[in-house]
Amino acid sequence: MEILKCENVTKIYENDTIKQKAIDNISLSINKGEFVAIVGASGSGKSTLLHLIGTVDRPTSGKIFIEGKDISMLNKTEAAIFRRRNVGIIYQFYNLISTLTVEQNIKLPLKLDKRTVNEEYFKELVKILGIQNKLKNYPNQLSGGEQQRTAIARAMLYRPAIILADEPTRKS
Ligand SMILES: Nc1ncnc2c1ncn2[C@@H]1O[C@H](COP(=O)(O)OP(=O)(O)OP(=O)(O)O)[C@@H](O)[C@H]1O
Ligand SMILES: [Mg+2]
Repeated sequence: MEILKCENVTKIYENDTIKQKAIDNISLSINKGEFVAIVGASGSGKSTLLHLIGTVDRPTSGKIFIEGKDISMLNKTEAAIFRRRNVGIIYQFYNLISTLTVEQNIKLPLKLDKRTVNEEYFKELVKILGIQNKLKNYPNQLSGGEQQRTAIARAMLYRPAIILADEPTRKS
């Protein structure tokens, strides 16, 4: 089953001083269960493509379908809801919320959706990721790797259809 499809996707970043074509007419199709890596030079558009697929940003032209639903035209609110239900994003720079603890960060997407947390799965996840003793820490009290794994747990807890990982194992 096709879980993700991009059709002729182009992204141009444009403002008063900058015009940058970051994605140039990309088409691709990914099936459920597939594990796909996007490789390319720095600045070639990898993060941009993940942000488009993750509904964080919109393509300038072209269409993106997730489980058959056209997500390219969702408005901001619709995109936020779709994202926290269907797409787990692990950002290149983690994007943890500094005023929330590790536990609160991981549970935030579910809380925003007023969904109950599967505590059993939560405990299993943080144990596998080796952050079970850091649940009360704030992000600035974590090592780089612990921040990374907190972001991974946050993206996995609600069991999204797709996980988008932007260099999740890069050492910074
Ligand atoms: N908000 C923005 N406004 C203008 N240009 C941008 C913006 N974000 C990214 N770009 C440009 O778009 C291009 C693609 O950037 P992107 O971050 O997608 O690259 P990348 O492949 O993820 O690189 P890296 O491997 O360094 O993470 C780059 O030339 C970058 O300078
Ligand atoms: Mg990048």
